[in-house]
Amino acid sequence: MNQISPLTAADLAAALQIERACHAFPWSEQTFASNQSAHYLNVKLTVAEKMVGFAITQLLLGEATLFNLAIHPEYQRQGYGYLLLQHLTTQLKQRAALTLWLEVRASNSGAIALYERAGFNQVSRRTDYYPGINSGINNGREDAIIMALSLA
Ligand SMILES: CC(C)(COP(=O)(O)OP(=O)(O)OC[C@H]1O[C@@H](n2cnc3c(N)ncnc32)[C@H](O)[C@@H]1OP(=O)(O)O)[C@@H](O)C(=O)NCCC(=O)NCCS
Repeated sequence: MNQISPLTAADLAAALQIERACHAFPWSEQTFASNQSAHYLNVKLTVAEKMVGFAITQLLLGEATLFNLAIHPEYQRQGYGYLLLQHLTTQLKQRAALTLWLEVRASNSGAIALYERAGFNQVSRRTDYYPGINSGINNGREDAIIMALSLA
């Protein structure tokens, strides 16, 4: 059975494992620790009691920002990323958030497809924002796409 529940300090090791399996430039333990406070809505998804994904979202003055979303590679393309996003938007609306913002690598077509399916629009682009996955291309940098979902 699937369950979405708060991500706590006790989940850090499992979250780091998923993070490292998903990203070329994974968050450090310290970054996870600094993205937890009363201003955050951090959740995990468990399938058959195994943690398979998480989402880290900050909510400040009605503006929410999705800082991280990851589903373990073995569990991708099974609807879990979409499920986490639906859960987040429901929770954020209940907390009177107006907009959910995010940044994504321009090359991350899978994530962009997921966000567009969930109703996000591309609003701007930050040139050379990320370190490049392929250091030989584009001076070793990569653009960020800024996306937003209206919750009002
Ligand atoms: C991006 C990510 C969270 C998607 O999670 P997921 O559970 O695999 O996505 P879902 O199964 O819910 O996908 C829902 C829809 O989004 C789109 N989508 C998701 N992944 C896609 C991909 N790799 N290629 C194309 N479309 C994709 C599809 O429309 C999909 O529906 P479909 O499977 O019926 O075609 C996951 O691939 C991941 O963790 N990637 C590594 C970390 C990452 O890039 N996070 C985002 C950083 S901003």
